[in-house]
Amino acid sequence: MDPVSNPSSPAKRRVLSGMRPTGKLHLGNYMGALYNWVRLQEQYECYFFIADLHALTTDYADTSGIAPNTREVALDFLAAGLDPEKCTIFVQSHVKPHYELPLLLGMITPLGWLERVPSYKEMQENLASKDLSNYGFLGYPVLMASDILLYQADFVPVGQDQQAHVELTREIARRFNQFYKRQGSELRAQSSEILPEPQVLLTPSPKLPGTDGRKMSKSYGNTILLSDPEPEIRAKLKPMVTDPARVRRSDPGNPDKCPVGDLHKIFSSQETLAKVYDGCTTAGIGCIECKTWVADAIVAHLAPIQERRAQFEQKPALVTEILAAGDQRAMVRAEQTMREVRAAMGLAENTPVSSSRQEEAGNALF
Ligand code: TRP
Ligand code: SF4
Repeated sequence: MDPVSNPSSPAKRRVLSGMRPTGKLHLGNYMGALYNWVRLQEQYECYFFIADLHALTTDYADTSGIAPNTREVALDFLAAGLDPEKCTIFVQSHVKPHYELPLLLGMITPLGWLERVPSYKEMQENLASKDLSNYGFLGYPVLMASDILLYQADFVPVGQDQQAHVELTREIARRFNQFYKRQGSELRAQSSEILPEPQVLLTPSPKLPGTDGRKMSKSYGNTILLSDPEPEIRAKLKPMVTDPARVRRSDPGNPDKCPVGDLHKIFSSQETLAKVYDGCTTAGIGCIECKTWVADAIVAHLAPIQERRAQFEQKPALVTEILAAGDQRAMVRAEQTMREVRAAMGLAENTPVSSSRQEEAGNALF
């Protein structure tokens, strides 16, 4: 069978990644994750999910944005080219093992490991307006470890900012495997660990500046959204900061010192890029013209994405169906891991009554 049309082919290695529901995605979210995921779905058994439980770790006081943002992110996933025939797309909170495994892994995770996570103090300071001295926020890496380990994922594509969390996931898995072994002698003969240690698949992240020259980020208000209409994209790029050395039209500039140049490197053809370098360094072109070219390249790249988004926006029931099917597939896979985890941790299954006993019990009622 064609391996692509069979996402559960056992020969394929598993990939898992997630994204917080921050609302409509921007070019930075896209280049830092989705663009890469769309390629991974061709080769691996992939699980991609919207991490709405993670949103609760910081947004617990006002949860009104979580459901609508989850919907927008799902639309952007599909628009960007994640194909539900090739990968499993799901919503974290719809798959109950995501509530269960964090509790169990929490039992074996030393507090010191969590306090040492670099993003812990940093985020508390950055989001000083929110009270993040909560159990849930401290435990966030356990939630993330569970997301990964539930699918016994081989690879986790993330940016550098998430690398420490995957490292911690490996440490938690190792500790779990030291404490708990597979149950059942014939299975123990296979002797593989219950929770394999996942590897980071570092997403190459080209420098993607926002319109103010700083890193593109929702909190800076400098983003270009995947769903921005063409006039909006052009309007946002027009006042974009450029090489500060190019004060007058007659001053030569350097695309390597210009955020517009950085965007060209990502989105423009070699041919356009050559014209930019030549025109900029000789003051042969003006920045306005140069920005028009970069807008052209971005608009062209986003056209098929926006076309797909428009189609899915017209079929909300289809999107719901796609997510429900993904939830179901994820549930089956996660539950498989949970059965092993519960057994290994000595939690007795609720032994199902055999069908004849069930009949007996049923008959006894009459
Ligand atoms: N923590 C990630 C972020 O903030 C999102 C995420 C949650 C994730 N669970 C994950 C990423 C599991 C990879 C694997 O971007
Ligand atoms: Fe930047 Fe282009 Fe202006 Fe050069 S010409 S400074 S690359 S915007």
